[in-house]
Parts: sequence; C-alpha cells; structure tokens
Amino acid sequence: MTAKVRIGIIGTGGIARAHVAAYRKLPFVEIVAVADVIAGKAKEFAEREGLTEAAAYDSHTELLAAELDGVSICTPNVSHHRTTVDSLRAGKQVLLEKPMSVTLEEAIEMVQTAKETGSMLTIGFQPRYDPNMKRLQDIVQSGRLGNVYYVETGGGRRRGMPGGTFISKALAGAGAMADIGCYSLDMALNTLGYPRPVSVSAFTSNHFGTNPQYHPEASRFEVEDFGVAMVRFENELVLQFKISWAMHMDSLGSTLFLGTDAGLKVTPAGSGPWSGVWDGAVGSMTLFHDDFGGHTSTAVPLIGHSLNLFDEKVRDFAEAVRDGRPAPIPGEQILIQQAIIDGVLRSSELRREVGIELP
Ligand SMILES: NC(=O)c1ccc[n+]([C@@H]2O[C@H](COP(=O)([O-])OP(=O)(O)OC[C@H]3O[C@@H](n4cnc5c(N)ncnc54)[C@H](O)[C@@H]3O)[C@@H](O)[C@H]2O)c1
Repeated sequence: MTAKVRIGIIGTGGIARAHVAAYRKLPFVEIVAVADVIAGKAKEFAEREGLTEAAAYDSHTELLAAELDGVSICTPNVSHHRTTVDSLRAGKQVLLEKPMSVTLEEAIEMVQTAKETGSMLTIGFQPRYDPNMKRLQDIVQSGRLGNVYYVETGGGRRRGMPGGTFISKALAGAGAMADIGCYSLDMALNTLGYPRPVSVSAFTSNHFGTNPQYHPEASRFEVEDFGVAMVRFENELVLQFKISWAMHMDSLGSTLFLGTDAGLKVTPAGSGPWSGVWDGAVGSMTLFHDDFGGHTSTAVPLIGHSLNLFDEKVRDFAEAVRDGRPAPIPGEQILIQQAIIDGVLRSSELRREVGIELP
C-alpha cells in the first residue's frame, strides 16, 4: 500500500474545521499535526475534532519540523506570508486560504519561494470548483462576446460583517475588499484569463463597522467595510469592483461583462444577509445579444451538480500532493489580483490613482 499523504493544519480557528472535515473524506490523507500561536489552542482543537493521532504545537515552526507532505494554512491574512514562506522552505506543499496576502511585496516573495524550493503554492478559491465557472470562462474565452472592454464585479452583503481577527488591521491587514473582494476578482479575472492591471483608483470607508449600532465590536473595528475601485488593464480593458460587508441596499448589482458583440450578466447563488458575494456557486448567467432583428437575451443553462465546493478544493490539493501535480490555483496567477488589492489599499490611503508594478 502506498503511504498516506501527511497533512498539517496551521491556524486552528473557524476555517480550519472545514479543512479537517474535507480531509476526513479522503481515505488517502491523514492529519498528523496542528498548530496555533495561542498556547494550548491547537491541543484543544485536536481534542475537539477527535484528531487523536495528531501532534499539537504552539507555533508553525515547530509543526514544520514534523514529517509532513503538505499544510493547510488557515491563519489570519497578515500571517499568510510568513507561514507560507516558512512552509515552502521546509519543503511542504501549501494550500493557503484566501486572500493570498495583504501586500504585493509579500505575494512576490511567496511566489519566488515556491519557484526556488519547487514546492507547490495553491490558493484556496473554492468557487473555481463550480463547473459553471468553467462554463462562464468558456463563453467569454470563445470570443462570443467579441472584444470585452468593460467588466463590473463585486458584491454586497446588506449586513454581514465578521468580527474577531477579521476587523483588526494588525491581523487582517484589510477588510471587505480583501476578504470578499478577492473572490470577485478571481471570478472576473480568471474568466478573462488574468489580464495584467496597470493602475487603480479606489475609495474605501467604514461607516457601519465603527458604529456600535451596527457592530458589537465597533470600538476595535479598524478596516474598511465598503470599497469601490476602478482598475485599468493593458489592452483598453477596465474593471470596476464594489464590495460591502454592510449597507442600506439589497444588492450592489450583478457581474457584467460588456463585449463588442454581446454582454453577459452573472449573479452568485445564495440568499440571505451574508449572500450576494462571490464566495460560492453561480446563480444565473444571461447573455445579451442582438439576434432575430432585435435585442435578445438568452438564459444560459447552468450545469446541475451537488458538489461541496470547499471539499473539492481540499481534495484537488491533496490529490495534487499525492500525484505530484502542479498547483491547481497557482500563486503566480493570484499574485495579479493581489497587486490590485495592494493598489486599492494604497490608492484609498493616498486618495488618488496609483500605478501597479508587476514583476
Ligand atoms: N475559503 C473560505 O471560505 C474562508 C472562509 C473563512 C475564512 N477564510 C480565510 O481563512 C483564514 C482564517 O480565517 P478564520 O475564520 O479561521 O480565522 P480565525 O481567527 O477563526 O482563526 C485563525 C487562527 O489562526 C491562529 N494564528 C494566527 N497566526 C498564526 C500563526 N502564525 N501560526 C499558527 N496559528 C496562527 C489564530 O490564533 C487563530 O486561532 C483567513 O485568511 C480567512 O480569509 C476562508
């Protein structure tokens, strides 16, 4: 029998539980170690999750000294860079939770380290595993829309502000733009084949998070709960994206691809106060075109499936480790959207358009 894929989990908070649940469904995987910076938290996590065989550590560096093939990095955003670089240098394959990092500089070092070490760095964007995302990409890349010159994306929760580590500048680095904006960017940019951005002009605010009427942790709310950005790309393409964790509105609109021959409107699935953002499946796709002598619209049939998208991303990573395949969602691709998020943060601080310098 071939040896099992040995996995470690770094960061044992909320999302680590979803990683454990997904790995448990894979008979060829064993979770052999867990780590958290809060003393004793990893041990408690292992006990609570019934990971009786897993060693528990109070730092990721101790965990990395263990015999492991891969790690899931489930720490707050600001720790993504350090834990990823250390894991890659220790020869581990990495599944990193989104967003990739906070700054572009960090993302560049992460990608360079993956190249130098030959270890895999994949970023955990589970919506990619909805087969309708592939359909969307196929439609746009088939040329059906003609030349795509404008894209509008993003999403808004009427009321869906996280708390805890997500609202601390020191731990999260950024708010809604990075937390849920990264999904919108991945959906739109992956559809387009990840074009290269050249500049961004952004505005962010936090009127809801800092108001005790709307957030129980208002006094420690330090990040943005709303943002809007206009991004210019090479080849005369522009993208506008808007994000809110909270607002007095039902929606910030759909994702739109405007082309010279047709347009495509896409909405995310899901309903309820925390929905309306691109962290899950496709809800609908409508093609707008001129046919039969007039303005026509066609509802694109969706591919029915019962996949758990989160489980799929974990499975794909574990199989890639087992089979020696390249990263399913490579860091070098996600680096491009990280450059946009970095630009959003700089532009909103400076209150002007900023250039984006990609390596
Ligand atoms: N893909 C998804 O659907 C999804 C959903 C939620 C969160 N996330 C992402 O997962 C990450 C974690 O989110 P969460 O909700 O689990 O946060 P959380 O605050 O519940 O848990 C993070 C844990 O990491 C620990 N930690 C911090 N620095 C560490 C380090 N250097 N080494 C080891 N442990 C460390 C913290 O003590 C905490 O226990 C975030 O980046 C978030 O954006 C992804």
